[in-house]
Amino acid sequence: MDISKVIIPAAGIGSRFLPYTKTIPKEMLPLGSKPAIHYIVDEGINSNIKNFFIVTSRSKYSIEDYFDTSPELATFLKDISKESLLSDIEKMIRAADFTYVRQAEMLGLGHALWLARHSIQKEYFGVMLPDDIITGKNAGLDQIIRVARQEKASVIAIQEVPSECIPLYPIIDIKKQITPNLFQVSSICEKPHQKDAPSNLAVVGRFVLSHKIFASLEQMMTYSVGEELLLSDAINTMMQNNEKVFAYKIQGTRYDISTPIGWIKAIIGTSFQNPQYAPHIKRFLEDLGTADSFMFNQVKNIEHTL
Ligand code: UTP
Repeated sequence: MDISKVIIPAAGIGSRFLPYTKTIPKEMLPLGSKPAIHYIVDEGINSNIKNFFIVTSRSKYSIEDYFDTSPELATFLKDISKESLLSDIEKMIRAADFTYVRQAEMLGLGHALWLARHSIQKEYFGVMLPDDIITGKNAGLDQIIRVARQEKASVIAIQEVPSECIPLYPIIDIKKQITPNLFQVSSICEKPHQKDAPSNLAVVGRFVLSHKIFASLEQMMTYSVGEELLLSDAINTMMQNNEKVFAYKIQGTRYDISTPIGWIKAIIGTSFQNPQYAPHIKRFLEDLGTADSFMFNQVKNIEHTL
């Protein structure tokens, strides 16, 4: 099973991050010196993805510009011998193709995927939600691609969540447990109440899907014209049409940057993994935990770093 294409739906309004997202897409929130979407594409490339189809919307031009060359800047940096500052992103641009699809009306994640349907032939493809930054030893998407190859079927990434967080996520109902980390799914329940939840296994933002998902989306569109199309409903429809779907407990740390607090945690967490930032952040946080912290001692300064 060759999986070389990924759809990144990035057209959402980002209302939980307003007013920032009024003009700047949340996918361009910085984590260190790189925007969040850089981490997503990096994970995709580390999962052998060659084609990225990014669904965008108005006021999201900065995403397209980021994955494009900038000859003037490159010349300027070369003149001052600082061309290495762009080497990571230039390598990324050479490693993959980027294609953009516009979503004019925000009719949901399912609708965003449906708009990219012409990019996908009769094949399995990846979906990466740019709100979920996954770090760890093995690329998150690659983990579920391996399971998809093994099971020859669609696979959803899942994580156990505490019961109070259940109403925030689509939750899977298990048909069969295959290994401690692998399940066959019988249905997905979109953001259930804690008491109605079929499990505590939440769907997170990585999928490998059969092209048959588009037929399910098409089927849903005929009876819900103009309504939000949920990906969970489309996956349920696909299972009702006798397509097997598996769920795999993804290994790694997941940061949800769709809210300011989630993003702040992502900045701190990813900084700790960066040897350039880690010692500074560690000292800063250690100081915050002391009675003599700069927070209380007005004559003490924050350690500034170049
Ligand atoms: P969310 O449900 O997080 O929506 O979408 P959102 O607009 O990004 O954020 P909030 O809820 O208003 O704060 C999950 C993913 O699906 C994409 C989003 O960009 C995000 O990556 N999406 C959602 C679309 O591409 N189009 C849509 O119509 C809805």
